[in-house]
Amino acid sequence: MEIDPDEIPSMYRTLAGAVVPRPIAWVSTTSPEGVDNLAPYSFFNVVAIDPPVVMFAPVDDDESPDGLKDTPRNIRENEEFVVNAVTESVAEAMNETSATLPTGESEFDRAGISRTDTRAVAPPRVAESPVAFECSLYEMLDVGGSTMVLGEVEWVHLDDEVTTGGKLDVDKLDAVGRLSGSLYATTENRFSMERPP
Ligand SMILES: Cc1cc2nc3c(=O)[nH]c(=O)nc-3n(C[C@H](O)[C@H](O)[C@H](O)COP(=O)(O)O)c2cc1C
Repeated sequence: MEIDPDEIPSMYRTLAGAVVPRPIAWVSTTSPEGVDNLAPYSFFNVVAIDPPVVMFAPVDDDESPDGLKDTPRNIRENEEFVVNAVTESVAEAMNETSATLPTGESEFDRAGISRTDTRAVAPPRVAESPVAFECSLYEMLDVGGSTMVLGEVEWVHLDDEVTTGGKLDVDKLDAVGRLSGSLYATTENRFSMERPP
C-alpha cells in the first residue's frame, strides 16, 4: 500500500500507529485563575541535552474559542509547566485526565491525583509520578494544526525508588507508552544490544 497524505482525510492513524510506543508527557499547568490542569500528551520527546529541552505537541481544539487546549493556553499565559512521568500504577488515572472538562474544573481532583509542591515553577507536580521535569517555556511554534511546545528543564524530581547509586534507573521506572487508539505498552520486556564503536 502507498499513501499520499493529500489523498486521505487524516494521517493520524498512520502516524500514531507507526510511531510507537510513544512516551507520554503528563503535563501539569496552572491557569491564570489558579485552576491546576493535568493532561496527557504522547506527541512528546527529548529535543536537546544542553540546555535540557523537551517538547510536546497539542493538536488544535476546534471547540475552544482560541483554538487551543487548556494546557498550551495556560503555558502561553504563564510560561511554566511540569512533565510528569506515566508509570503503570498511574496509567488509569492518566487516562481519566484526558477527559474534556469545563475550563474551571481540575483534572487532579477528577482523577483523584495528589498535587505536590514544585521548586522552580508555580504549577504543582503529580505526587504519584516518580519523575517530574519542571519546565519554563523555551518556545512555542505553530506547526499547521498543532502547537509545538518546547520547555527547558529547570528542575528535576526523581523518587529514590527509581534510582540506583544516585542515578535514574530505567529498570525501576515501569514507564508506560502509548500505541494506537486505546492500546498501551509497558516497558517490561527488555533486551540489550551493545552499540558499535
Ligand atoms: C495517552 C494519551 C495521549 C495523548 N496525546 C495527545 C497529544 O499528543 N496531543 C494532543 O493534542 N492530545 C493528546 N491527547 C488528548 C488530550 O489529553 C486531551 O485532548 C485532553 O483533554 C487535553 O486536555 P487540556 O485541554 O486540559 O490540555 C492524548 C490523550 C491520551 C489518553
